[in-house]
Amino acid sequence: MNYYLLGYPVGHSVSPAMHNAAFKELGLPHIYSLLETEPEKLGETVQRLRENKFGGANVTTPHKIEIIKHMDTLAPSAKRIGAVNTIENRGGQLIGHNTDVIGGIKALTLKYGELTESRVVLLGAGGAARALAQELAPKVSELVILNRSPDKADKLARILPGNTVGAGLGEQQVVKTADIVINATSVGMTPNTSESPIDAQYLRQGQLVYDIVYNPIKTKLMQDAEKAGAETLGGLWMLVYQGVESFKIWTDQEPTAETMYNAALRVLEDWH
Ligand SMILES: NC(=O)c1ccc[n+]([C@@H]2O[C@H](COP(=O)([O-])OP(=O)(O)OC[C@H]3O[C@@H](n4cnc5c(N)ncnc54)[C@H](OP(=O)(O)O)[C@@H]3O)[C@@H](O)[C@H]2O)c1
Repeated sequence: MNYYLLGYPVGHSVSPAMHNAAFKELGLPHIYSLLETEPEKLGETVQRLRENKFGGANVTTPHKIEIIKHMDTLAPSAKRIGAVNTIENRGGQLIGHNTDVIGGIKALTLKYGELTESRVVLLGAGGAARALAQELAPKVSELVILNRSPDKADKLARILPGNTVGAGLGEQQVVKTADIVINATSVGMTPNTSESPIDAQYLRQGQLVYDIVYNPIKTKLMQDAEKAGAETLGGLWMLVYQGVESFKIWTDQEPTAETMYNAALRVLEDWH
């Protein structure tokens, strides 16, 4: 069976390495490859895939919302988030799923444990932050969303349940009292690797700092957190666990997360 990543551009992706390593480990005769798809060709590409009886696909920027209209039905995960990152081909019926957030939360809970009692500061109010905030708000004891544009954080907090507030990045002293700090902004991403969204003085021991940026593997924020004695979790684990969830949907088999992580890491290291 053939599996694909639909996006534009997709040149820099670790997904083929991740999934092909897992297929190999489980002895599955499948191949995952990149399928660069210009936005205006999305519909015809999906049609061609249907005709060729593909196994399934991941969907990335800029197609995660546009792809919805080409699906036959949506799984609850995709309905809730309003975006699709995984296509399941169930006997010719295309089902849109979203495994991004499940992956992000799974990576977090495996590292931190139960989230119920935790005070969380989430940085960002873009696509990734919004999806994570939806999952976190009903689960945690306090959620503070900080964003460069404060109105976006405020608007988002207002529609979410629980003890949730939104403010500007200028209010970042609240990080001091947080149990978990999550960076879901693009600050610190290659090539701007010397930037961090948080002043290092607010990071402390006893805290978990989770940066969903995965290129570089260890961001400036994570380096600062380590120096302050905090625990860290890198975004490659979120990427790996969304991949694990997609893989399970396609094959009904559980791949080894470490195998996928190591394959992705090798690709990232080759780029640097
Ligand atoms: N590990 C994973 O699997 C995974 C999955 C998804 C995304 N990500 C990463 O998460 C990051 C965000 O992705 P996204 O899709 O949510 O992007 P997005 O929708 O474009 O949102 C970008 C966010 O970053 C903020 N931002 C951008 N530049 C900033 C700056 N110079 N200073 C302060 N804030 C800044 C934006 O604030 P404003 O609202 O003020 O513009 C916004 O909150 C990216 O680095 C992406 O690679 C990782």
